[in-house]
Order: sequence, then C-alpha cells, then structure tokens
Amino acid sequence: MTRRAVSVALAAALAPGQTPPGKAAYEAFSAWRKSNGGGGNWDETLAAYRNKLRAGGMPAAAIDRTLRAIEAYDEAELYDGIYAGPSTFDTEPNKLLVEAVQGRRPGKALDIAMGQGRNSVFLAEKSWAVTGFDVSEAGIRAARRLARTRSVAIEAVLASDEDFEFGESRWDLIAQIYAIEKRSVHRIRAALKPGGLVVVEAGHVSASGAPFEYASGELAGIFRGFRVRRYEEAVDRPDWGKERIRLVRLIAEKPG
Ligand SMILES: C[S@@+](CC[C@H](N)C(=O)[O-])C[C@H]1O[C@@H](n2cnc3c(N)ncnc32)[C@H](O)[C@@H]1O
Repeated sequence: MTRRAVSVALAAALAPGQTPPGKAAYEAFSAWRKSNGGGGNWDETLAAYRNKLRAGGMPAAAIDRTLRAIEAYDEAELYDGIYAGPSTFDTEPNKLLVEAVQGRRPGKALDIAMGQGRNSVFLAEKSWAVTGFDVSEAGIRAARRLARTRSVAIEAVLASDEDFEFGESRWDLIAQIYAIEKRSVHRIRAALKPGGLVVVEAGHVSASGAPFEYASGELAGIFRGFRVRRYEEAVDRPDWGKERIRLVRLIAEKPG
C-alpha cells in the first residue's frame, strides 16, 4: 500500500477481516525505518518520518493521524509480549463494570481496548451484544478463545482507536477500563445512545503522571451534563498492578 493510500484508508470504516489501515501504516513505517538502519531515538525517528510524509505531499491532519496509528501499533508489540506470558494482572472482570451493569437491561456494548476480553466475555455472559477492539493481535486472539471457552459470542476487532469507527448514538454501554490511551474517552459522548452508560476506570495523574491518567475532575468535565451514578478517586490496587495507587472511577449516564 502506498503512503497516500494508507492515509485515505485511515479515514475509512474498517470492514470485518480487513487489515486495519493503521497497521498497514505501521508496517510501511517499520519497513522505512529498517531501510534506514532501524533503531535510534523514537521521537527523532518519528520526526524524520513526519518530514518524509510531508515531502510526499500528505496533508498535515493525515500525517498526525498516521503517526498516532503508528504509535498505537508500536504499543501493540509491547502488549503482544505481555499477553504471550503468564498473567500478571486480573483476569476476572473489572468490579466497577460488574457493579455498573447490575440490574440493567442488556443492549449493545463497546469495550475499548478490550485486551484479552475479560470484560467483553463477562458482558456477553450477561446477554449484552458486545463489540471490543484492541491493537494487540495476541489480545484479540485470547479474547476470541476465552469467548469460545465460555460459549458466548463477542465481536473482537483488531483495530487501534484511530481505525475503529465509534459511530453516533450507537451503543447502550461503553467501557473504557485501563485503556492506555486517552483519545477514545472523548469519542464516547457522541457514540453513546441517549440513556447509555459510560464506565471508566484508570489511574489518577498522581499515580505516575503517564499521559493516559486523569486529573481530578477531568472526567466530570468530559462528561458534563451526564447523570453521574458514581465517581470516586480512591487509593486501591489497580487491576493492572500490585501497588496501591490513586484511581479514578466513573459510571455515568448520557441524558436521554
Ligand atoms: C492495560 S491493558 C487493558 C486491557 C483491558 N481493557 C482490561 O482491562 O483487561 C491496555 C490495552 O490497551 C491496548 N491499546 C493501547 N493503545 C491502544 C490503541 N491506541 N487502540 C486500541 N487499543 C490500544 C493494549 O493493546 C492493551 O490491550
């Protein structure tokens, strides 16, 4: 695929079974990097690739999107490795999500960055029609395997947040649990149906200052106007770690 074709494809919806265009962009980048000796400082390499895309005539917005996708699929390599080894994280469903759906009529659910599918499979067992996406192929394979083992159907899509088409007023529930990227949370408002539920659990910025953590009140701002059913910043053990850290937890409903 040429660079221009990749940038056009990034804007298109993802058909089932299709190689995600972001992954194609990552592969084109990796081939270019290898032909330039590989390795080197990551930020400098990305800056050089940006210049190359610009010189090739790609519009600025498409370059930004392509570079975000490249970073997402680079992250996938890390998670492919993590998922190949023994679990060092919770494989039970997230407790906040379990609480959020208790007594709620099942509908269409989206699991953002679904990992190995612990939350998607839980929701499917509660009769939700679940779609999840993730950049990690190993994660997606494990999620499908878990669903088969538990005899439930889920749609597990290999895609980055840049590839995945969130849609508008499409989901009754959207879960973003330890998603390691923050852009998606801004897409939830439009993607939820009126009356739909958002469930977010993540680290608080005081935990490590990583870019995917949330400041106090940040989620309240993003979901202004939603009916907050639960919000807390509690010190607790995260599903994805052993040390207790400050977490943010939100369950909120889009006005219907
Ligand atoms: C800490 S794990 C959480 C997985 C799952 N939500 C859970 O709680 O079990 C973070 C996940 O985010 C995925 N991820 C990271 N960046 C992503 C992106 N830009 N788009 C989609 N998935 C991404 C990783 O592959 C990984 O599976």
